Formats: sequence, C-alpha cells, structure tokens
Amino acid sequence: MDRIVSGKRHEEDLSFDVNLRPRHLKEYIGQTLLKENLGIAIAAAKKRDEALDHVLLYGPPGLGKTTLANILSVEMGVNLKTTSGPAIERPADIVSILTQMKNKEMLFIDEIHRLPRVVEEVLYPALEDRFVSWVIDKGLKARTMNLKLKQFTLIGATTRYGMLSAPLRDRFGSIHRLQYYNQEDMELIIERSAKLLKIKADIEGIKQIATRSRGTPRVANRLLKRVRDYADVLGDGRISTKIASSALDKLQVDRVGLDVGDHMVLRAIIEKFNGGPVGVETIAAAINEESDTIVEVYEPFLLQSGLLDRTRRGRVATRRAYDHYGYEFPIEQNQPKMF
Ligand code: ADE
Repeated sequence: MDRIVSGKRHEEDLSFDVNLRPRHLKEYIGQTLLKENLGIAIAAAKKRDEALDHVLLYGPPGLGKTTLANILSVEMGVNLKTTSGPAIERPADIVSILTQMKNKEMLFIDEIHRLPRVVEEVLYPALEDRFVSWVIDKGLKARTMNLKLKQFTLIGATTRYGMLSAPLRDRFGSIHRLQYYNQEDMELIIERSAKLLKIKADIEGIKQIATRSRGTPRVANRLLKRVRDYADVLGDGRISTKIASSALDKLQVDRVGLDVGDHMVLRAIIEKFNGGPVGVETIAAAINEESDTIVEVYEPFLLQSGLLDRTRRGRVATRRAYDHYGYEFPIEQNQPKMF
C-alpha cells in the first residue's frame, strides 16, 4: 500500500528512531500530565478489551508526537500504520487504508491538517460510526455502499491545531497539546540519549546543550551528535562545557537557542519593519522563506521565549528581542497598541 509511509521526512531522524525514541510510556521524559492521561486511557481500553479512542496530538515540531504514537501502539500491543495528510490525495486512498485496518489496529496520520477536505469527509463517519460510504457504478446505476470498518484507532498529529476543521477536531476522543520541555527534562533527555549513543559527557556539557535546544528533544539530539563530532575531532571525545559551548557557537546556535533562521525573522522585523506590526507573508517575502515554515517552525519558540508578539495587525518584536540584539527599544513601541 503505497499511501502508507513509515518513518519521518528527514533521513537523519531515521537513525534517531532506532536508537533514541523511547518505546514505552515509562521511559518517556516530561509531558507529565499528558503521560498520565494517556496511561489511564490505555489501561481503561485494555481493561475493557476495546480499541483506544481516537487521539489527536498537537504542538510544535520535534516535541515527540510521532514518538508518542509509536508508544501508544506498543503499550496497546497493536500494529501502527503510518501515513501523512499530504500523502492521502483522494477519497479512494483513505477508503483503501481504512477498509484494510484490522481489529484494534492504529492509524497514524501526521500533518493531519493537510488532508484534503474530500478525504476528511470520508473520515467523519469512519471515526464516529465506523463505516465509510462508497459510491459504485455511475449515472443511473450509481449506488452508495456503506462499508463496515473494524474497531480501529486514529492518531492524528498536527503543528497547526487551528487549521483543523471543527467536525474533524470534534471526532477525537482525546486531544493533547505537547509543551516545550523545561531545562531539567531536556537535561534528562540528553543524558539518556548520550548513554544510548555511548557518548561521554560532563553534566555541565549536557546543561549547555540543553539550554540551547529550544525545549525540543529533536533539536537536542541533533546538537548532541554534532557536538560529539567536535569532541571526537578537537578533544578526547568527552563533551565538556568548553567543547559544548565552542561547538554550539560554531554551529551558530546562540546562548538561548536561536539559530540562523530565528535571527533572520527577528532581525527582519526589527531592521526592515521598524519592529512591526508586520504581516507574516511580508516577513516571508523579505527573508525568502515559506510563510508556513515561519508559522510552524520559528514562530512558536519565539512566542514562547517572549521575543515575538502576535497581534491582529501583525507580528511585533518585543523589548526582549531588541535587548537580545543590543538595539535600543523604540519609544513608539512603548505605547499601548490599539486593535
Ligand atoms: N527522546 C526524545 N524525546 C524524548 C522524551 N520525551 N523522553 C525520552 N527520550 C526522548
């Protein structure tokens, strides 16, 4: 079935998948409340010998949505089929996937906000009443067949909760938002990854990487591997504070975790648009980047860090952003904004 894809988009992630992704809920660090809620849902479904109710996971990229989907299937002891919104183009594709689902099996749809509307419409009765409608024959002979589906679980993941239609959102039994990880959890995640990869690292070196990983395990694991390269080539293989901090400087990740892309967004707002407000499309054009990338990848962390504000009139660089770059905060920015 070619609409089912396994693994993620980035080649490099595949090696992380094998080694670093936790397989069980108890190995998963952070997201405490979410873990607790999922743990209860799993235990309850197992006790009743039912499929887990449909789950929607949302939040910025790299926080563990795919990892959690895999964990859910392992904990339930069922098979997980993986696909993504853009890979399912036609209603026939989703009908084919759904009608082949076995009892209690799980279907993971990544980037579910990118499902075409006609495909989404097939999902409504599938999720609510476990059937799909299929039109056979044409013209006068056209008939609708309702095909019964097995008990299955849909796990949807999205970086854009607001782009999901209300009817689709409402059909998930539980909806969970993944949060950025705090410093302590990031350190634990890096420590765990270092152990699995047999990397020797001082606690201070781990702290350095954690501070600059923008609360995101995927970033932390990538930086850990790159810092290891520096430690292997320029040092004795051990990640010390000194090695970590000079490697991260060379990788152009600054002391709060901002990288080249973040700088481009913030500097454009400050230097080209007087601090804003400025529309995201205008920023995108100014830095030659997709507006979706700005909204999905850069903006959530800049908002979380208090470097960027989102107003109805557009994006605004905050006083903290000005301070970060050593610019003086303009007087007019101090005025209360009128919306
Ligand atoms: N690797 C990536 N994310 C993780 C997490 N939340 N817990 C443990 N290991 C991880």
